[in-house]
Amino acid sequence: MTGTNAIEIVGNSLKDKKPYSEEMNYVLASYKEMMDELMSLVQEISIQNEDIVAMNDEISRSYEELQNYQGKLLSIIEFLSSIVPEKSMEDFMEDILELTLSLIPAADGGSGGIVEGEYFRYLAQRGYTDILKENKFPRDIILLTEEPIIFRNLHNEFNSDIPEKYKRIFEQAGSPRIKSSLAVGLKTDQIIGNIFLDSFSDYDAFTDEDKRILEAVSKISSVYIYLKLSLQELDDTYIGMIRALAYAVEIKDKYTKGHSDRVAEYSLKLGEVLGFSRQRKRLLKEAALLHDIGKIGVPDSILNKSGSLTDEEFEQIKMHTVYGGKVLNNVENLQEVAKIVRHHHERWDGRGYPDGLKGDQIPLESRIISIFDAFDTILTTRSYKKALPFTTAVEEIKKNSGTQFDPELVEVFLRNVSIDWVQPQCQNNGVL
Ligand SMILES: [Fe+2]
Ligand SMILES: [Fe+2]
Repeated sequence: MTGTNAIEIVGNSLKDKKPYSEEMNYVLASYKEMMDELMSLVQEISIQNEDIVAMNDEISRSYEELQNYQGKLLSIIEFLSSIVPEKSMEDFMEDILELTLSLIPAADGGSGGIVEGEYFRYLAQRGYTDILKENKFPRDIILLTEEPIIFRNLHNEFNSDIPEKYKRIFEQAGSPRIKSSLAVGLKTDQIIGNIFLDSFSDYDAFTDEDKRILEAVSKISSVYIYLKLSLQELDDTYIGMIRALAYAVEIKDKYTKGHSDRVAEYSLKLGEVLGFSRQRKRLLKEAALLHDIGKIGVPDSILNKSGSLTDEEFEQIKMHTVYGGKVLNNVENLQEVAKIVRHHHERWDGRGYPDGLKGDQIPLESRIISIFDAFDTILTTRSYKKALPFTTAVEEIKKNSGTQFDPELVEVFLRNVSIDWVQPQCQNNGVL
């Protein structure tokens, strides 16, 4: 029995008592009035109760939404803290796609790529085959939008006038499944790429909120890609300068054309096998490119002499290690390279030059360069000798293991060296 019903029953039972005196009537009227007031109060409370229940639902919905936002925020923070300069653009795009797909669950797949001159290259995809990453696309057949936009039926709407070849690639990738898309450009002062999200099931999958999220994602991505591209450009310029220095020697010493580039290429292959870090590989590459830079200080007549060298001439040639080390030691950030260059003619048994270092005293990078310096010299024609075949070069390195060369490195060299490494060089020399 509710409170309302109890009050009504008491009121009615009092109303049925007769005859009434005036006082009684007055009491009854007061009771009635009180009862009406109570009833309306109860009604009011019950309405307020309904409001409170509704409010409660609203609060719990808002709480769920808040938790959802908190989850999204956490995954964004996690992602941002995982960005390190070493991360490649491909890995970055993979991660950003994964993050975006978790933030915008309406998307079933997506892709991201960058503009490279007249071409567009996909860096990552989700929900498509790898054929996208395996091809380059003319920039003008790719939809590059500045602001985030939503559209339907991408494949049918936009693929009609692109060349057959690319239409087929998109078909093989799986783009005919796309029902709706949400796209945004990656931009600095110009468009440098894009990110696409696609729904394979819904023509109206994306909302304005999704647009806002993707816009934020595009801003983070644009900054990162821009920095990466700028660093790459700087790096290319820097390596270009180092190459230019190496070529300066090759102009003086006509027989060493391409020698520094090849020694760098072979040395890096070994660095790769040895599991060198990105930074250490870079150091190895710079040192290998510059290992003979000191020959700039050796007279041309000695460098290009066709007969055998006198002791004094040989002493002058040996000085190229000292000159190279000195020149590079004066360049900021190249002190380590300078040390490697100085010691590239040391021998494992301590009978090398300029300092007669022995075994582990010789920097590892110098020991690697030393192997390939000799290897490449055997394979090429010099003023004093003819080019010899690949097998002879390999045998020669093996023969000098433990005396001239680090025996452990020679083991790694023998396990990995392949005729494919030297094919173009040997074919040129006709000694393959
Ligand atoms: Fe040298
Ligand atoms: Fe050399």
